[in-house]
Amino acid sequence: MATLIKNISSLVTINADGKPYKRGEEMNNIGEIQSGAIIFDEKILFVGKTDDALRFIYNNHIQINETIDALGKTVLPGFVDSHTHFVFAGNRSFEFARRLRGVTYQQIAQEGGGILTTMKATREASLNELIENGLNLANSALRYGTTTVEIKSGYGLSLDPEIRQLEAIAVLKKIAHQNVVSTFLGAHDFPPEYANNRDAYVDLICNEMLPIVAEKQLASFCDAFVDEGYYTIEQGRKIFKRAKELGLKIKAHADELANVAAAELAAEVGAISADHLLFVSDSGISALKNAGTVATLLPGTAYFTRLPYAPARKLIESGAIVALATDCNPGSCFTENMQMILSLAVINMKMTAEEALTAATLNAAAALCLSLQVGSLEIGKQADLLIADVSSYTDLFYHFGINHIQNVFVKGKKVV
Ligand code: NIG
Ligand code: FE
Repeated sequence: MATLIKNISSLVTINADGKPYKRGEEMNNIGEIQSGAIIFDEKILFVGKTDDALRFIYNNHIQINETIDALGKTVLPGFVDSHTHFVFAGNRSFEFARRLRGVTYQQIAQEGGGILTTMKATREASLNELIENGLNLANSALRYGTTTVEIKSGYGLSLDPEIRQLEAIAVLKKIAHQNVVSTFLGAHDFPPEYANNRDAYVDLICNEMLPIVAEKQLASFCDAFVDEGYYTIEQGRKIFKRAKELGLKIKAHADELANVAAAELAAEVGAISADHLLFVSDSGISALKNAGTVATLLPGTAYFTRLPYAPARKLIESGAIVALATDCNPGSCFTENMQMILSLAVINMKMTAEEALTAATLNAAAALCLSLQVGSLEIGKQADLLIADVSSYTDLFYHFGINHIQNVFVKGKKVV
């Protein structure tokens, strides 16, 4: 039993050809097919021209149980949001309003607010509240086209509440429509209990939290916020080393607030991705490129905190693997909408529409080690795809600020 979508005005395949990511000029090759068709059950069976699809169905005796005519529409891979903080409690709109009056993100953090405001609310929240909040964001993201989402802990900052956040993510893996990937971010900030003994908290992460997270298989990745005022290079290295010993893959919040050479550290430890990179240096860029560490850019955060944008052009032109994600979180970027991120990427980071689409699909899947399963529309891959109500993919960028997604399929099932 399969679904056929035919007469697609603009079918964006991304066309990876078995490759796990694209770099440089290759990012512009999105394999668009006009008057295209796609046939799928849980996986993709055919991608090509509509005429050839009809022949394929006949020759292979495929049973089609739903046919969708997509004349005047665009079909593209579901977005992969490889960096979110969907599971938290509380609300920081009050702090946001202060930021609008000129108080900086760091000033609020120094007063004991920021991440610690969300930590207090998250510590008090029950497992069910965390699940409900996370599910609301996941469902909203789904309507904007996100079919795979990574979710981090990092608002518990002590053993039990960190585990509770990861358990909430484990439940979301079962009940959310998306593919969900879990990341342990115990090193998001330092809890007040350890304000004067930060290294002791690092030891707690290495000696108590990480072993339990690994043993209970609660996370695929370990992340740390290596930046000015947060984790030092040495502390980050220690956490990453321990996480790797325990079989976790590495991600880093790197060089978001200042250049502390966190990108270089990510490359050194073989991180799968280094995220943010607003202040990455030239040596950081070449380290990422040489290590094959995905540079995940989060332009929503630069926008929302009024910081300068990451040097996307330089990263792409020097051959780094560039991905895009939301960073959806209650402090520095509160949006779950990947279409907003695409708009910011092309207008404010000067990426082309094609580069942005590649970065939000295939390369983002590479940031989760999932790019052989999702991130492009090719035979054998999971049928995660979107129907947008525009006749060309460029219209997704041209007509901005609205939701173009009409239907969402995950593993071949229509979920929107
Ligand atoms: O990715 N950079 C660190 N963490 C988040 C912000 C979290 C928060 O403010 O709650 C980020 O920007
Ligand atoms: Fe983040």
